[in-house]
Amino acid sequence: MLRQLPKVSDPNLLVGISTGDDAAVYKLNDDLAIIQTLDFFPPIVDDPFTYGEIAVANSLSDVYAMGGKPLLGLNIVGFPVNLSKDILGEILKGGASKAGEADVIIVGGHTVDDKEPKYGLSVTGVVKPGCQITNAGCKPGDVLVLTKPLGTGIITTAGKQQSVKSDVIREAVRVMNMLNRDASEAMVETGVNACSDITGFGLLGHLRSMIYGSDVGAVINVSTVPVIDGVWDLLDKGIAPGGTRRNLSSVEDITDWHSDVNESTKLLLADAQTSGGLLISVPSVDSTALINALRLRGVETISVVGEVVSKESIEPYRIKVIP
Ligand code: CO
Ligand code: CO
Ligand code: CO
Repeated sequence: MLRQLPKVSDPNLLVGISTGDDAAVYKLNDDLAIIQTLDFFPPIVDDPFTYGEIAVANSLSDVYAMGGKPLLGLNIVGFPVNLSKDILGEILKGGASKAGEADVIIVGGHTVDDKEPKYGLSVTGVVKPGCQITNAGCKPGDVLVLTKPLGTGIITTAGKQQSVKSDVIREAVRVMNMLNRDASEAMVETGVNACSDITGFGLLGHLRSMIYGSDVGAVINVSTVPVIDGVWDLLDKGIAPGGTRRNLSSVEDITDWHSDVNESTKLLLADAQTSGGLLISVPSVDSTALINALRLRGVETISVVGEVVSKESIEPYRIKVIP
């Protein structure tokens, strides 16, 4: 859709829409660039406060994925006029609480009447020009590191159908609620080639943006992909959101599945995440330093899920999935 927008060229626009990144980076001077992004979505959990927290964690994630520091947020709200304002109050309180955890100030916002609630933030962050980390820097030989387990789309869908144990939901909520700040600081410290946060397009969809932006291919090793406990059971029952199924069909033509990779695994790798982790592409010589920096900051999930490969060893723009 974005390709239909008029092409913009401005020497200060360091990152625009051409690399498939989720945020724009605009240089103000040699020392400072602003990062601008926005995200919002309908409720994915029952509790309004928790929904607010997760929506803000998710909105900040695009800034963290660029190695930036978020500073300001503006609330974006859709809310039905006939629903209790107390609910909206709880959503906004949850959002403000998560923003506070991230040292981000929410400075206002805008609300419109809507059939179904929606909430998120427009976020302004900063980064030193040239230090922004984009989708587009993957190099052959890079190692791919993922910092949160997959499965939140499948679990929240099961939650809406009341077909999942409460401890499985609790764990998904805990994962979605975690800021990607520590992971971001670790990768900035180490220096990495590329990064994307994993959200609505799933692991494979976001990896596709990275390999298109970087003119490379990738291999994903299923056995090392982190998964939230309980997700395989839900997949066995055939539970997956519509968005996940659409993601899967949209990556089919660029993915080479090993014959041992089953349908459940394919859905997992395409699962639409909310507030997912960072997928970091780091030179293999620096991967130990990155893993140590992530550990030092207490990042719980640090999984090497695959590698970036050259156009010569695999066709460009293709993802090979091995068991
Ligand atoms: Co986004
Ligand atoms: Co993103
Ligand atoms: Co207004």
